[in-house]
Amino acid sequence: MFEKQVYISRRRKLMEKVGDGLILLLGNSEASCNYPDNQYQFRQDSSFLYFFGLDKPDLAAVLDPGTGEEWVFGDDVDIDDIIWMGPQPFIADQAAEVGVAHTAPFAKLADCLMEAQKKGRTIHFLPPYRNHNKLLLHRMLGLDFDRMKAGASTKLIEAVVSLRITKEPCEIEEIDKACNLGYAMHVTAMKMMRLGMVEQELVGVMEGVCRSGGVMTSFPTILSQHGETLHNHRHDAVLADGRLCVIDAGAEIASHYCSDNTRTLPTGGKFTQKQKDIYNIVLAANDYAREAAFPGVTYRDVHLGAAKIIVQGLKNLGLLRGDVDEMVAEGVQGLFMPHGLGHNMGLDVHDMEDLGENYVGYDPDQTRARQLGLGSLRMARRLVPGHVITDEPGIYFIPALIEKWKGEGHNARFINFDRLESYYDFGGIRLEDDLLITPKGARILGAKRIPITVEEVEATMYTD
Ligand code: GLY
Ligand code: MN
Repeated sequence: MFEKQVYISRRRKLMEKVGDGLILLLGNSEASCNYPDNQYQFRQDSSFLYFFGLDKPDLAAVLDPGTGEEWVFGDDVDIDDIIWMGPQPFIADQAAEVGVAHTAPFAKLADCLMEAQKKGRTIHFLPPYRNHNKLLLHRMLGLDFDRMKAGASTKLIEAVVSLRITKEPCEIEEIDKACNLGYAMHVTAMKMMRLGMVEQELVGVMEGVCRSGGVMTSFPTILSQHGETLHNHRHDAVLADGRLCVIDAGAEIASHYCSDNTRTLPTGGKFTQKQKDIYNIVLAANDYAREAAFPGVTYRDVHLGAAKIIVQGLKNLGLLRGDVDEMVAEGVQGLFMPHGLGHNMGLDVHDMEDLGENYVGYDPDQTRARQLGLGSLRMARRLVPGHVITDEPGIYFIPALIEKWKGEGHNARFINFDRLESYYDFGGIRLEDDLLITPKGARILGAKRIPITVEEVEATMYTD
């Protein structure tokens, strides 16, 4: 938890921005897995954590921008709870630690909201994503389930995004720590990779490193020789010689700040020339993005600049032909990189995605493209100091997608489909760093960059 003043100041700013009505912020509850008492690891809602720092289930809060009054609702533990969980601080003491003066039992929340509704006051709430909280909103505000997302307060969403999107120095310190743990995860995998291992063995070791130094992974680990499947969560294959293994994994530390890195490793420890040729294009796109990421520049333009490097590189290898700018304008790069260059990162690995990707990743004057790849760009905004974003270009050879474009003749004048056939078993490459935008440009988060050049990766692998 940060200093009390951090939370007080965040809430004051939130109330100033919203200005009217009541602000309702719901924490998360425990979620049962396969029987009631066997629960998934508890994860607090990130906006609740941001404004209150209280990392416990079954809490909610109400802020009144009119009076500045702040309430936390929650129940103190009783003797039955203490038997199983040990003594717990009173809700009033927990709230006082983060500068909140008023507390009440959870059941009083419904009364508070009903009274406000009777007076015709607006109740601002964020889009719920957990069924437990949807049920609460249904019961307390009488909202239909299918209208809940639309009923969420745009004013509150925009206010929360405007605060959370630029990170304070205390947050950057935490993200640096998460990235250091991410470094340890990835370097461990590089050193331990051996032919004949099942992918899952490496996943287990990486996640062990993560859990030893943090609380959980920031998202389900991707570790696969089928890196052309962007979010491949199967880890049951045996590591075979001559393949590429995409490892996309990150840590979430005790404060819940995240890291997210991808490296692509040659399974046998040495890249083939064919692999190096593609790898170095992706690396050039990654380096370009970091160097181009400056305050005032849109990340959409950085995405398109990285796309240009990819298209130029594939043209140099004879896989594409034609004018590079024209190919980028037509979206040829989407065949090879059908995802965006990056996303915001913070308390969520895809920061604030629950609030709506366009609110988080797009300035009011920007609209989302429809093109394959660019249309998946989660962060397009004009960069400002304090943004924390990922830089994750990739090149993938997805046979089904190539065949589809070939069959439709889509962008056929630019693509050497015959040559592409020899890449059908290539897999994919993605290289991802986490960046902080500073007044002078971008810096890679964490004390050290995870080995990334061909030489660095080969020198690190098989050294355990
Ligand atoms: N690292 C997973 C993702 O960004 O989607
Ligand atoms: Mn990512």
